[in-house]
Amino acid sequence: MEQLAQKVGGMSLDAMTDKYPNCHPDLNPFDFYRAHLSNLLSDITGVDTKIIYPALSWTQSLDKGDLILPAPALRVKGQKPDDLAKQWAEKFPENDLLFEKPTVVNYFMAFYVKGAPVVETVIPLIQKHGKDFGSNKLNGLRDPTDPSKGRKRIIVEFSSPNIAKPFHAGHLRSTIIGGFIANLHEFAGWDVIRINYLGDWGKQYGLLALAFEKYGDEEALNKDPINHLFQLYVRINAEMTAEKEQIEKRKQDGEDVTELEADSLDEQARRYFKKMTDRDPEALAQWKRFRDLSIKRYQATYARLNIRFDEYSGESQVSEEAMEKVGREMLEKGISKEDKGALIVDFQELVPGKEGKRLEKPIVRKRDGTALYLTRDISELLARHEKYQFDQMIYVVASAQDLHLRQLFKIIELLGHKDIAVKCQHINFGLVLGMSTRKGTVKFLDDILRDVADKMHETMKKNEDKYNQVENPEATADTLGISSVMVQDMTGKRINNYTFNMDAMTSFEGDTGPYLQYAHARVSSIRRRANLSDEDLASADLSLLTEAHAVNIVRLLAQWPDTVQTTLRTLEPTTVLTYLFKMTHALSSSYDHLQVVGSERELMKARMALYDAAHTVLGTGMRLLGLSPVER
Ligand code: ARG
Repeated sequence: MEQLAQKVGGMSLDAMTDKYPNCHPDLNPFDFYRAHLSNLLSDITGVDTKIIYPALSWTQSLDKGDLILPAPALRVKGQKPDDLAKQWAEKFPENDLLFEKPTVVNYFMAFYVKGAPVVETVIPLIQKHGKDFGSNKLNGLRDPTDPSKGRKRIIVEFSSPNIAKPFHAGHLRSTIIGGFIANLHEFAGWDVIRINYLGDWGKQYGLLALAFEKYGDEEALNKDPINHLFQLYVRINAEMTAEKEQIEKRKQDGEDVTELEADSLDEQARRYFKKMTDRDPEALAQWKRFRDLSIKRYQATYARLNIRFDEYSGESQVSEEAMEKVGREMLEKGISKEDKGALIVDFQELVPGKEGKRLEKPIVRKRDGTALYLTRDISELLARHEKYQFDQMIYVVASAQDLHLRQLFKIIELLGHKDIAVKCQHINFGLVLGMSTRKGTVKFLDDILRDVADKMHETMKKNEDKYNQVENPEATADTLGISSVMVQDMTGKRINNYTFNMDAMTSFEGDTGPYLQYAHARVSSIRRRANLSDEDLASADLSLLTEAHAVNIVRLLAQWPDTVQTTLRTLEPTTVLTYLFKMTHALSSSYDHLQVVGSERELMKARMALYDAAHTVLGTGMRLLGLSPVER
C-alpha cells in the first residue's frame, strides 16, 4: 500500500488517516482508493475533500462500478447535477494510475478501478493480514488522546432461554444473531462480554421443585436434565390446571374451598418460591442443581454452534436488596406509584405525547410484594453497568418484546441515567413460522439440530461418488445441518418473519448453507491439488492475473473491509452473507477460465495466490457468522 501511495504520488498513508474520519488505508484498500479519488475530484470540482470523501459509496454489483458518486451530494449550486456530472467526468485525467475515466448515468458518476494496481495491492495485503484482513483490529478504537483507555467494551446479551421450558424459535434466532453480533465486534477489536440471561426465577420454579419432590428421578435428571425438567414441568402444570378447575367447580356448587385452596399446588408453589426468595438453603440448593445441570447441557449444544458465554446470568441472579433499592428510588422520584396495592409506572403521566401512551402502564411490584420480569431487568441493567462499565450493551431479543425493552430503557433514563440508557440497544427480529421437525413440534435446540443433520445425511447420500469421498459423513452432515439452519436464519433482514423449510435449507442448490460450505471446500481442494507452499504463493507474479474473472474476484475481495464496517452499522447478518454469496458466485464462474492445476507453473502460482486470498476471506466471513467452514 505504501508503495502504491508513492507511485500515485498523492498523499502518504498517514496523511490520509489524519485527514479523513475512520480512514485506514493501510488496512482497507477502499479507504486508499476513496482518499485518492477525493483528492482528484477536489481538484476538478473545487469542492472540499471533506464533502467528497463521505459521498463516495460502493455499489450493489461490480458492473455498476467500484465507487459511485451522486453529483448533488457535492452541493454545487447553479447548474443541473446531470450536467455537472458530465463536465467533471470529462475533466477526469486520462491516465490516472488507479481509476478508469468515470462513466455517467444521469447524475451518477461511476468509477471503475484499473486491474493491475488493485490486484497487486489487495492480494499481498490479504497474505499479510490473513484472517485479520478487514478486521480493523489495529485501528482507533482506543481513545487517540489516551491510549491507556484500552479497547471499548460491549456486552451482548443473547440466547436467554427459560429453564424447564421449550427452547423456541425466539431463542434460536437470538442465539444465532447474538453470536454473530458478538463475533463481529470482537473482529472489529472490541472487548466483548457475552451474557446469557436465563429465565430461571419465579413461582413456576417453585412448582418445578414440587414436581421433582413428587416424581423426580435422579438418574433421568443427571442424564438429560433439560428433557426431564421439561417433562416434570408439563406434568405438574397439567395437574395444577385440573386442580384449579376442580376447585372452581366446587366453588360454584357452593362448597367452602378455603382449605382446598390453602393446600393447592398453586399455593404450595407460591410457598416454595417464597422459601427460595428468602434464601432457604435447602430450597436454594435444589434449584441451583437444576440450573447448573441445565447450563451444562446448554453449554454442550452452544459449543456445536461455536458459541460460549462469559456469564450465565439470569433472573435468579438479581438481588432482592438491589430491587428494593431501585424500587424505593422510583417511588421517591415519582416514577412509580401505587395502584390498587401494586406499584405501576404510568408513562402517560411521565412522558408527554404519543410516546407516553405507547409505553403503557407496566406493573413493577405485585400486590403481594413480588417483583416482575421488568423489575429484574431494571436492577440487572444497572448492576451490569456497575460491574462492567460497558460502552455499549446490546439485547438480542424477539420483536415481541419491543415494548418491554422500550419501557426498560425509558425507566433507566427517568431514574437519571440517560448516559447509561443511550448505551443500550435492542436488536430485534421477527418470527420463524412452521418450525417443526418430522417428529412433531420442536422443543429443544438439540432436536432441531439432530433432525436437520439426519436430513442432511440423506441429501448427501444421494450423490454416491461424493459421499464416498467424505471421511466422516456423520460429522460432516452435522456441520452442514447446523450451517443450513443458520444460513436460512440469516438470509433475510432480521425483522422479517421466515418459514422454517427443511428441504430448501438443506439443498446444495441456491444460496444455502450447504452451498456456501461446498464453495469453501472447493477452493480448499484446489490448494491441496496444486500442492504449492506459502512461499510459492508469496512470490507469485501477480501481474499475470489480467483476466476479467481474476480482477473481479479481487475487486470483491477489496470490498471486504468495507462490508465489515457497514455491518457494524446495520448489525444485519445478511450484509455479510450477501457478500459471501457474491464471492462464491464470482469464484464458481471463474474456474473454467482460471485453471490452476494443469497451467504453467508461474501462472499456477499466481492463480493459486488469488484463490487462496478468496479462501481466506470466505473462511473469515463464515466464521464471523458462526459457521465452521469445512475443508472437504
Ligand atoms: N428469557 C426471556 C424469554 O424467553 C428472554 C430474556 C430477554 N432478556 C432480557 N434482558 N429481558 O422471553
